[in-house]
Amino acid sequence: MATSSAKGWRPDTWTRLRAFQQPEYPDASARAEVEARLGSYPPLVFAGEARHLKEELARVCRGEAFLLQGGDCAESFADFHANSIRDTFRVLLQMAVVLTFAASCPVVKVGRLAGQFAKPRSQSVEVRNGIELPAYRGDIVNGIEFSVAARTPDPARMLQAYTQAASTLNLLRAFAQGGFADLHRVHGWNLEFIGEAPMADQYRELADRITETLAFMEACGITASTSPEVSQTAFYTSHEALLLGYEQALTRIDSSSSQWYDTSAHLLWVGERTRQPDGAHVEFLRGVSNPVGFKAGPGMLPEELITLLDLLNPENEPGRVVVISRMGADRVLEALPPLVRSVQHEGREVVWSCDPMHGNTEKSANGYKTRQFDRILTEVRRFFEVHEAEGTYAGGIHVEMTGANVTECTGGAQAISEQDLADRYHTYCDPRLNASQSLELAFRLARMLRKERARRGAAAGGDEDGG
Ligand code: PEP
Ligand code: CO
Repeated sequence: MATSSAKGWRPDTWTRLRAFQQPEYPDASARAEVEARLGSYPPLVFAGEARHLKEELARVCRGEAFLLQGGDCAESFADFHANSIRDTFRVLLQMAVVLTFAASCPVVKVGRLAGQFAKPRSQSVEVRNGIELPAYRGDIVNGIEFSVAARTPDPARMLQAYTQAASTLNLLRAFAQGGFADLHRVHGWNLEFIGEAPMADQYRELADRITETLAFMEACGITASTSPEVSQTAFYTSHEALLLGYEQALTRIDSSSSQWYDTSAHLLWVGERTRQPDGAHVEFLRGVSNPVGFKAGPGMLPEELITLLDLLNPENEPGRVVVISRMGADRVLEALPPLVRSVQHEGREVVWSCDPMHGNTEKSANGYKTRQFDRILTEVRRFFEVHEAEGTYAGGIHVEMTGANVTECTGGAQAISEQDLADRYHTYCDPRLNASQSLELAFRLARMLRKERARRGAAAGGDEDGG
């Protein structure tokens, strides 16, 4: 069959280029065998769904919707439970409902889950008590335990990651379409512990207003049967396209469009450490037709960003590229404007999203890798300020969060202290916002978004973000 693909691109052309952050498997034939098997397995997502997401992101590009992307830093095999998937999904729904209702803005929901298993590391080895072992690279590569057996990369883990992603997706599809996401349940989404959490009253008040609105709509004849949006939602998945052998194995031609799609998730992004324009990861993403993203840290030069857009989006298609700014609260005001200006100057279509997590990681006095809620909020606020000053649209947020009541980031209305971190610090990689902190961020964000939309004439009114 004739395929339409990017010039000179095949699913394996990345192998000619330098691929950073790849594991060294002791047995190359075992790896090839696993990849061949994966290549014969069913796709996890469908090309048509990825195209829908691209259309929704095109609406974000035009300032008509907002992108909410969130989930674990790293999913793990050990923490694989229906309840934790449900809790994360539920908090994402709550955040989305806060943004939709409080800012009158449609929200595109994208989970960082059902495949977020591979992690880039700043050091390829870890030394403890004089013993040196390969660094943990995510459950799809090796185990987190500090032993030779666990840390040796094992290709069979790719099969387990595939299976876990498939059943996670299955559950997410059921939640999104089978009644759980019905807006009539907006009160029921409140987690038990949020019942006493600082954000509970604010959320309950909003849920009351939504319930009233639904009753009014029903009286007008707008019900779940006339408008499926009331009882169902679209939910998409995403992860960092880091482990290229796995991604290649799941890359297939879509028979209806004759285009290549990476069917491991709807949206794939490349991280700050693997976004080199002449590197293997960008080469891989160039040829798949999914929406794609790349992280932009404070070292990103405007020319480099334009080169990445030339490579990843030569047709300048709206909804194809999400630029995920992760500057840090202290750097964003100076580092982001030159990037925004060059994109404007060149007339490029991008979704600007803010990852306020990865530029604000620090070590607590008692030795935990953590993030302060206030620094996260400050980066988000400054991200909006930059877009306001440049006349562009702050279109999305990308957060590491969980529905569990963990203590990994400090601050927020719960006032988690450095001492509290030891209580429930469960992450496999970076510290996540817990359910209460995520909801609090959504309420603060809703005010910023409301103001932004008022400025752009998209919504009436808009109050100040207080604080
Ligand atoms: C991540 O998103 O978990 C990550 C590693 O981010 P970055 O590439 O921006 O450092
Ligand atoms: Co992370």
